[in-house]
Amino acid sequence: MTLAKINPTETQAWQKLSAHYNTIKNHHLFNLFNDDKNRANTFLKELKGLFIDYSKQNINTETVDLLIQLAEETKLEDAIKQMFSGALINETEKRAVLHTALRDFDAKEILVNGENIIPAIKDTRAKIKLFTESVLTGKITGCTNKKITDVVNIGIGGSHLGPQFVLDALKHYKTEINTHFVSNIDGDHVQEVLKNLNPETTLFIIVSKSFGTEETLTNATTIRNWFIAKQSKTAVSKHFVAVSANIEKAVAFGIEASNIFPMWDWVGGRYSLWSAVGLVISLGLGYHNFEALLQGAYTMDKHFKKTAFDQNIPVILGLISIWNINFYNRNSEAVIPYTQYLDFLPDFLQQMIMESNGKSVDRNGEKINYHTSPIIWGSTGTNAQHAFFQALHQGTMTVPADFILFAKDHYKQPLHQDKLIANALAQSQALAFGTKGKNTDVFKTFEGNRPSNTLLFESLNPQNLGILMALYEHKTFVQGIIWNIYSFDQFGVELGKVVSGEIQNTQATKDYQNLDNATALLLKKINNFL
Ligand code: F6P
Repeated sequence: MTLAKINPTETQAWQKLSAHYNTIKNHHLFNLFNDDKNRANTFLKELKGLFIDYSKQNINTETVDLLIQLAEETKLEDAIKQMFSGALINETEKRAVLHTALRDFDAKEILVNGENIIPAIKDTRAKIKLFTESVLTGKITGCTNKKITDVVNIGIGGSHLGPQFVLDALKHYKTEINTHFVSNIDGDHVQEVLKNLNPETTLFIIVSKSFGTEETLTNATTIRNWFIAKQSKTAVSKHFVAVSANIEKAVAFGIEASNIFPMWDWVGGRYSLWSAVGLVISLGLGYHNFEALLQGAYTMDKHFKKTAFDQNIPVILGLISIWNINFYNRNSEAVIPYTQYLDFLPDFLQQMIMESNGKSVDRNGEKINYHTSPIIWGSTGTNAQHAFFQALHQGTMTVPADFILFAKDHYKQPLHQDKLIANALAQSQALAFGTKGKNTDVFKTFEGNRPSNTLLFESLNPQNLGILMALYEHKTFVQGIIWNIYSFDQFGVELGKVVSGEIQNTQATKDYQNLDNATALLLKKINNFL
């Protein structure tokens, strides 16, 4: 089984959508709402307490029908089946894509190359649970028998962003363990984290699927040397564990085999927090909360797998994004959560979406002539309102936005929460309708007609966060399939790694001849500072 390789622009649906765009593009959201008093209900979906309002998009029911036709013509249904069943849909790397198996609490068998992966997933979850409980109860201690108080996750990209996002988002559920992250190869970053830590009570988790990432290995080496200088070499095994798909390399680095939590090549780095990469989540929030997060994602998985496209939330959101990008030429999307807890969401989504779908060659190996991944960015409301919202309201570019809201706050402060919610709703309303129908000064005119989705949950808990994260994962998948690209490789990050190696060699030899003259000049200037 392989993915279909259909150029979306050659489908009948694409032609119809192009014609349809020419008729709908002159319909202002203000008029669409005025003409249809039931519009909000027509474009609303619900799943287990999550409400998705996409009525403030430049669509009508015909748009949605045609977009669904596009999904059908590009064989999305078959692609979803292939992903969930373990087909090697990451064809360029000859791998299955099974992050969904990590949160499937019912499956007895999912085969990858003839091997059932479910037992290994269950064993690993049990290992995470046991380890978490042993650390939290003090059964596992540091080398001087003191309880572990701090955990440092050493990893980058998918081995960092997901766990940090979840721990920030759910800090209300925190255990007594303090969690820290070292990701950047910037040595100052490492030192700033280490300076407040006691090696006797700190556990380090080296997280690297490949165990070959320069940043992670450099940071892990610096931290191990710091640890040995303060404690001893023999104490390393009590303070360093690893999560990796490359057991050999982790062992060669000096991690005891029994201290290595497995990962597998059928889990992409940016989709890996559901695996043992989430060990730091389990330690920081408790295993039960880690499992609740997985359960939430599983809820979304079942919905995505089984629901007809016209009711399927990730499918609808993926298609609307395609509508904005490929027909309206809106190539950037803002994500605006109205809770400070989700401050890190744009960073997390940037890797998930842009590393997956930032491609310009299709599954036939042909250069493509339509846009793929949007630029993802954003920040929390209301802060963002006092920063970049000016451009969203009156700038020359139209940026579709996702507003993410939680009806209830954790600390039950209506004085704040009512204002927070009012602000969120006000922004999507002002973007959509502007000052249309009002007499305004030219400088104070808001054209409106700027689209957004509103995602509303009752509250921010592990389950709902899992639902939200899996929603964006599947939305990304939908778009990759329709754009006819491979979403699960990331060759675009490799060239920079090679060039960095060459520059490092140049720094050692001071022979700048093979460098372009701008880089050579900058290096000389840098050396003059040293
Ligand atoms: O360089 C990109 C990347 O491969 C990401 O896809 C991945 O999440 C990150 O590096 C870290 O990789 P690893 O877990 O193998 O250290």
